Amino acid sequence: MNLVRVSESKSVWTATEFMPKFSELTGKIDVDVCIVGGGIAGLTSAYLLQKAGLQVCVLEAFELSSGQTARTTAHFTTALDDRYFAIAKLHGHEAAKLAAESHRAAIEKVIEIVNNEKIECDLEVLDGYLFADSDSREGILDKELRAIHKAGLTDVEITPSPLEFFNTGPCLKFTGQMQLHPLKYLKALAKVIVARGGHIFTGTHVSQVEGGKSAFVKADNGAQVNCASIVVATNTPVNDLFTIHTKQAPYRTYVLGFQVPKDSIPKALYWDTLDPYHYIRLSQTIGESFDVLLVGGEDHKTGQEDVPSHRFSKLESWTRERFPMTTEILYKWSGQVMEPVDGMAFLGRNPLDAKNVYVITGDSGNGMTHCTIGAMLITDQIMGRTNPWEKLYDPSRISIKAAREFIRENANVATQYADWFSAKKKPGFPDLAPNSGSVYREGVKMIAAYKDEVGNVEFLSAACPHLAGVVTWNDVEKSWDCPCHGSRFDKHGKVIEGPAIKDLKPLTILNRELSAQKTRLLPDSPLTERPM
Ligand code: FES
Repeated sequence: MNLVRVSESKSVWTATEFMPKFSELTGKIDVDVCIVGGGIAGLTSAYLLQKAGLQVCVLEAFELSSGQTARTTAHFTTALDDRYFAIAKLHGHEAAKLAAESHRAAIEKVIEIVNNEKIECDLEVLDGYLFADSDSREGILDKELRAIHKAGLTDVEITPSPLEFFNTGPCLKFTGQMQLHPLKYLKALAKVIVARGGHIFTGTHVSQVEGGKSAFVKADNGAQVNCASIVVATNTPVNDLFTIHTKQAPYRTYVLGFQVPKDSIPKALYWDTLDPYHYIRLSQTIGESFDVLLVGGEDHKTGQEDVPSHRFSKLESWTRERFPMTTEILYKWSGQVMEPVDGMAFLGRNPLDAKNVYVITGDSGNGMTHCTIGAMLITDQIMGRTNPWEKLYDPSRISIKAAREFIRENANVATQYADWFSAKKKPGFPDLAPNSGSVYREGVKMIAAYKDEVGNVEFLSAACPHLAGVVTWNDVEKSWDCPCHGSRFDKHGKVIEGPAIKDLKPLTILNRELSAQKTRLLPDSPLTERPM
C-alpha cells in the first residue's frame, strides 16, 4: 500500500517533524463516528468527539496530516482574510459578530487543548498586523476597522508598523493571534486519541460514504466502518459530486521560507490587503542561529496557470524588495485553499445527507482556524447541543448577495471545458524535459503524457474522473491538476486531492516494441487504450 502522498515540494513542517504510522483498515468495525481525513479538521473532530464520550475512527488515505495541514503557514487568527466589512455586507453585522466570536473561540480552544494535554508544539500567542497594499488603499483599513469594532473586536486599533525597514503605512493591530508547529500539535493529538481507545487507520482510501440509518464508509480494499455519523474532513468533500463544488473554488498558493538573521524582524503575523494577499510569519524555533521568515501568496486558480513555478519568482522578488535581510531560501512549497463564494467556510451538515453526514470545507486562507471551528461546531451538532454558529457556516446556505461571485466562479469553470475542443499539439517527446508532463489531443481524446527522469513516457487519460475537466501539468508539484474543482493527481495519475475519488485512467500505448523494451518513446508512436 502506497502511504506516501507524492508531492515534490516539502514544507518546513514536513522537513522538521514526522507523523506516527498506523496500519491500513481491513475488515469491518463499528464506531459512533467515522471521520474521513487525518488533517487538523479530522483529528480535532476526533479528539473533541471522543472527549464528548463517543467512539471514533479516523480514516486517512495517505499519512496523517500529509495534505493541506502540512502545507499551511499555521497561523490562527481573528483577522478574516475576506474582510469584516465584506462579511457584514454579505451576511449582516450579527453574522460578522459571530464570525469574530468563533475565530476567537477557536484560538482559545487550541490553547486549552495544548495546556490540558501538555503538548509541546511551539505554540506562541502574538500580535497580527494588517497593512494596505498601497497608499491609495489605506481607506480600506478605516473601513475594516469600523466593521471590526462593530463585530465586537474592540481591542483592534490602527498603529504604526513595527517593521522599520518596510514602509507598510499604518496597520490594524490584532492582539491574541497564534502560531504553532501543526505537525507537532497533531502528532500529540493522534497519540491522545489512540491512547483513549480511538482508532486511526492510514493508507485507507475511501471510495464510498453513505449517510442515513445504516451509515457506513467503505474503503477501496472493501474494508468498512459502520457508524451513526460521518465527518468528511478532506479539504474539499469527496462525498459530494456537485453541490458544494459550485459554491467554492480551488486556488493554489505558494510559500517561501527565507533564512534571516536572528531577531532582525519583529515576531508577529503580517498580512496585506492585496488580492491575492501576502501572509507572513516568523519562526524562531527552527534554526538555532537564525530565524525563518515564511512568506506566502501569489495565489491562482488551480490548474489555470501555465507555469506555476513562476509564482515562486514573483513571491521572492516581492519579499526581497521589502525584507532586505533575507538570505538563502530554505523552504519552498505550495498548497491549495478552497475559497467560498460568500466568504464563509462550509462547516456542518452536508446538504445532501443533512441528518448524519457532516463536512468541513471552504476554509479560505484561514484553514487552521476554520478547521478548529468546524470541529467544535460539528461536535455540538452530533452531540445534539445548540451552537450559535450553525446558521452562519451552514453548508446548505445560499447567499443571494454573493450571486455575482457565484456566477463568476461557475462561468470560469464552464469555460474550462472548452479545453476539450482545443487543438493542443502533441509534444515532441524527445524535447520534453525529464520529470515533466504535457497534455495534447489525439483524435477525440485528450492525453496526459508524463516523461520520467530517464526518458520513459507514461500516458494517462487527461479527463478528470470527477466531472471530466481536462487536467493540466503543475511543474511545481509534478502533478496533474484539474482546473474545474481542484482535483489533483500525482504524475502517475493517482488521486491525491478531491473531489475526485478515482485515479486518472492509464492508457497503454506505446508502440509495442518500445513498451517491451522500456526504452525511450519515439515522437510519433501510435496510441491505443489499454482495456480496463
Ligand atoms: Fe471537478 Fe475535475 S475536479 S471536473
